[in-house]
Amino acid sequence: MRDLTALGIAAVIGAGIFSTIGNASHDGGPAVSLLFVFTAIACAFSALCYAQFAATIPVSGSAYTYAYASFGELAAWIIGWALIMEYAVGNIVVAISWSDYFTGLLDGVGLHIPDYLTLGTQSAYAGYHAVLDLMLAGRPLSEATAAQQEAYRIWSAAPTLFGDFKLVCDLPAFIITVLVTALVYIGIKESKTASNLLVLLKLAVVGVVIVVGAFYVKTANWTPFAPNGIGGVLKGVSAVFFAYIGFDAISTTAEECKNPQRDLPRAMIYALVICTILYVIITLVLTGMVSYTELGVGDPLSFVFKQVGVDWLAGVVAVSAVFAMTSVLLVFQIGQPRIWLTMSRDGLLPPVFAKVHPKFHTPSFSTIVTGLFVGVPALLLNMDLVIDLTSIGTLFAFALVCGGILIIDPHGQSDARFKVPYLSGRYAVGLILLAAAVALWQYNRSAISEFWQAVSSGDYEQFRHQIPMLVFLLFCVGLTVVSFTKRLSLLPVLGLLTNLYLMTQLGISNWMLFFGWLIIGLAIYFGYSNKHSKLNTRVGYKQ
Ligand code: ALA
Repeated sequence: MRDLTALGIAAVIGAGIFSTIGNASHDGGPAVSLLFVFTAIACAFSALCYAQFAATIPVSGSAYTYAYASFGELAAWIIGWALIMEYAVGNIVVAISWSDYFTGLLDGVGLHIPDYLTLGTQSAYAGYHAVLDLMLAGRPLSEATAAQQEAYRIWSAAPTLFGDFKLVCDLPAFIITVLVTALVYIGIKESKTASNLLVLLKLAVVGVVIVVGAFYVKTANWTPFAPNGIGGVLKGVSAVFFAYIGFDAISTTAEECKNPQRDLPRAMIYALVICTILYVIITLVLTGMVSYTELGVGDPLSFVFKQVGVDWLAGVVAVSAVFAMTSVLLVFQIGQPRIWLTMSRDGLLPPVFAKVHPKFHTPSFSTIVTGLFVGVPALLLNMDLVIDLTSIGTLFAFALVCGGILIIDPHGQSDARFKVPYLSGRYAVGLILLAAAVALWQYNRSAISEFWQAVSSGDYEQFRHQIPMLVFLLFCVGLTVVSFTKRLSLLPVLGLLTNLYLMTQLGISNWMLFFGWLIIGLAIYFGYSNKHSKLNTRVGYKQ
């Protein structure tokens, strides 16, 4: 059990707490700590559903395997396709964040990588143009953010290749991905001891940050608690959710557990509880040490200690962050090829994805594809975009897992040795949604009027931003009715609703990109997978 909980923490504590928490706190202030609590609750519902699946179908795999066994291959394909967002796309974020800390560390010991080799092309290009636009409009440079000014400086000074092609990319992010992929290729697995030691290191560092940081907290920084209102807090949804991604990795070990029915759910919940407590306290410490306005940086945990003059701890945090994120990279870089291998064995991907290296016994081709899929975008892309995509894809997968439990076991009557505790949703779903509506009316009436104004304005530009919320509200009404008539199990319903609600906060442009991603996935499915699927020749689930 301890090993399983440690595995969860190994996959969870990484770029989220060391990096993305900075921007979330910058936008939402100390109140982001409450968003961490809400998000953890959504994750806990999903964890219970994951655990029931793992107990029902105790084969290694992931949400993909569960969907394949319960709903057939189209749903499984969609989940497998969405999981690429969680595993591979998520690792792009971790690689970029790793690079932020690593270059900062090298700077600290006097080794400087040229700036144009440490920033993603997209960020540099966007920042350069933002500043250029300001200058052309005759506005002061101070209106640009520090990051945009830095990007302008880096892009302007970068060498030019082939006439007018600026060489700006995040080389360390690429190199760490290649190195981790090479280790995964030759079959390295962190031994249990090494992995547990790393987890202890992460926990120790976070603990030290909390204890030492507490001495520098100025409670005045906690007022105002939500400087940009609930809207500001909700801007952090994808960053905060990202910080929790990975606890589901525990479910992939079902085959190796002695007693998966007992241990998996507990380990997932323990990992979530431990991480939530740490995240909430860390947010309060960070926003108490310096004003939230200063936290929009890529390395907030070491930044705050530099700000208060405790440079040695800033250094320790940076070194630990590099280790911590390497271990997250390793977990997902091992996980992604194995999902592809399973999909390929089911006939949904070409057989080469299931090719196993004769000497190293690893899925060699899938591993290389994963390396390229993560490494090349890490050179180029802006981290915020990638965080949003990871979060929307993972939330979607979690929502499907909760929905899946409602389909296979709507009344908690399964005889699996672990099942989501059954509470009737007959009245509770409606009452909880009503209570949420009353709370919204009481505390965030402006959001309701903004929503209503946009929906009724007749202006498509305003309307389209509300489409996800509108669909969500209709879905809530539908689910309330079905919960009433069919006495659906409450907890999976709440899991479905909380995950979908978080998705509504991710902005229409991310939804469009995600839909684009799903459409490409469906095109591949109907163009290739459906024709080559093993189900065409054999009925039932193949282990
Ligand atoms: N939750 C993992 C991280 O923060 C993905 O790095």
